[in-house]
Amino acid sequence: MRAAEVRTAGEAPVATDRGEPDASGGRVLVDVLAAPITPLDVLCAGGRSYFGVPATPYVPGVQGVGRTRDGRAVWFPTPAGMAPGDGSMAATVAVPADDLVDLPDGADPVGVAAAGLSAVAALMALTWCGELAAGEHVVVLGAGGVVGQAAVQLARAAGARRVVAAARSAPARARAAAAGADAVVALDTDDVDVLAERLLAAGDGPADLVLDPLFGAPAVAATRALRPGGRLVNLGSAAGETAALDSATLRSRSLRVLGYTNNGLTAAQRRDAVTRVAAAIADGTLAVAHETVPLDDVTAAWSRQAAGDTTGRIVLVP
Ligand SMILES: NC(=O)c1ccc[n+]([C@@H]2O[C@H](COP(=O)([O-])OP(=O)(O)OC[C@H]3O[C@@H](n4cnc5c(N)ncnc54)[C@H](OP(=O)(O)O)[C@@H]3O)[C@@H](O)[C@H]2O)c1
Repeated sequence: MRAAEVRTAGEAPVATDRGEPDASGGRVLVDVLAAPITPLDVLCAGGRSYFGVPATPYVPGVQGVGRTRDGRAVWFPTPAGMAPGDGSMAATVAVPADDLVDLPDGADPVGVAAAGLSAVAALMALTWCGELAAGEHVVVLGAGGVVGQAAVQLARAAGARRVVAAARSAPARARAAAAGADAVVALDTDDVDVLAERLLAAGDGPADLVLDPLFGAPAVAATRALRPGGRLVNLGSAAGETAALDSATLRSRSLRVLGYTNNGLTAAQRRDAVTRVAAAIADGTLAVAHETVPLDDVTAAWSRQAAGDTTGRIVLVP
């Protein structure tokens, strides 16, 4: 079968021929319909993640959508790059039966793969971790990315009163606007005072909740746009591994700064969240920008994701 293979940590995978995976030990063969290339895939394959350097060669891809041999359309996770085992960027993958999540009728496989765990993170960071309540004012940082686009739409669906999006490039701001934000703020400077002023001006008062996949200067600015008792949920560090949060802002407003990872979800929580994301895609309330690329073109597509040179999620199609 055709598959992508990471041969050296830090290098892009290549398309190659491999044997069909082994379906013993309670695992089920799934013929892959769509496999996204995500920041997590690139991070893990680079050997710089907190999971350590992966054993090579391996097939990357921490998630995908496919069809079992008995005809079920399913979303599935894999441990590829985080633990030994092969992932979704292949014609066929073997997945523990308990990990399969059935897709609702009408859920487009490519659309579900594009949203995938990034939308799960947006949903659970907003609701479970961030305790979003109807009528609240939400700020979404990095709103042109997949997490951000999903967060704008899912916050709205959860009853947010106002959703302010913030994104770096003009195309990212256009994606945030298309996702339905009430206002879109440019993150084109690291000047925290300027960014905080913009976020406050875009609101109808200070915000209740910030969804933050960026950290760095945007996160610092966003804390200054929160109300007393407001929450910031961090789930990524695209703009910086550190952020110069000032104590006076945190303590004078009794802010809560929280960390979120999908790896902290139970299997049941993840299954439920994937089901909700797929249902939202099927009923048209959730969609994220994406493009499809043949599996054989994985090397160039992976390099574009690693360089940030994409206009939406790249989804590989075997
Ligand atoms: N904790 C979790 O469980 C979890 C789950 C999923 C994702 N994440 C993390 O969340 C982050 C976003 O994921 P994603 O799926 O949305 O990625 P994505 O679709 O690749 O989007 C990344 C976005 O980050 C923006 N960005 C990159 N560097 C930036 C900077 N210095 N300042 C401002 N914006 C910047 C990019 O903006 P431009 O378009 O302007 O370049 C892009 O829109 C990643 O770090 C990912 O690892 C965490």
